Amino acid sequence: MNPGQSSTFLLQTCKEVPVIPVLEVTDDAVAEPLAAALIEGGLHVIEITLRTSAALQTIEKMARLPGCVVGAGSILKPGQAAAAKSAGAEFGVSPGSSDSVVRACRDEGLPLLPGAVTASEIMSLLDQGFSFLKFFPAEAAGGYRALKALSGPLPQARFCPTGGINLGNARQYLALDCVVCVGGSWVVPGEAVRAGNWKEIRRWAAEAYTLNAESGG
Ligand code: 3PG
Repeated sequence: MNPGQSSTFLLQTCKEVPVIPVLEVTDDAVAEPLAAALIEGGLHVIEITLRTSAALQTIEKMARLPGCVVGAGSILKPGQAAAAKSAGAEFGVSPGSSDSVVRACRDEGLPLLPGAVTASEIMSLLDQGFSFLKFFPAEAAGGYRALKALSGPLPQARFCPTGGINLGNARQYLALDCVVCVGGSWVVPGEAVRAGNWKEIRRWAAEAYTLNAESGG
């Protein structure tokens, strides 16, 4: 799958949701109830970061749930693309991009959402054929104002801003034409997962989902 096809798949998938919850799961036993709560709340596109030893098994379990589109986040090395794909991940997310990760995702047929935060990084990814990028770290890099300024001369790029986003500032990003959805860990606090508080998580997901209507999505 080449970068253009990769971005086309992800644009189609991500335009259905205002928010991609970013989860760092430490115990794959929570995979099913956690994904079910998010899906019931309206957020069926989920990113599991490959930063824990439970990540791949969590992806495997979530990938089996009907309607769940699960991706692997924090892809830094080429081997992680193959591992994510064989666990059932439907896409990969990286905080930046490297030739080796881009190549591995292409070879594995794993759609990639690569990260970019400067005009040069965005230009380089556009050159490679990507049109949908993770704007990371969104808030630390200047927030929605920075993204709005960057998208002026780079109107062909679409973004999923991530990093420091919450219910309070998500609206400002979603109001930009270049923003398809946002990503964030705020939807699912680790404490709620550890406590098995699925009802609350469903409620927070539903609350985040309302951003869709506000942004006209
Ligand atoms: C990550 O990879 O951790 C994401 O960018 C999430 O960022 P956040 O915790 O600031 O939402």
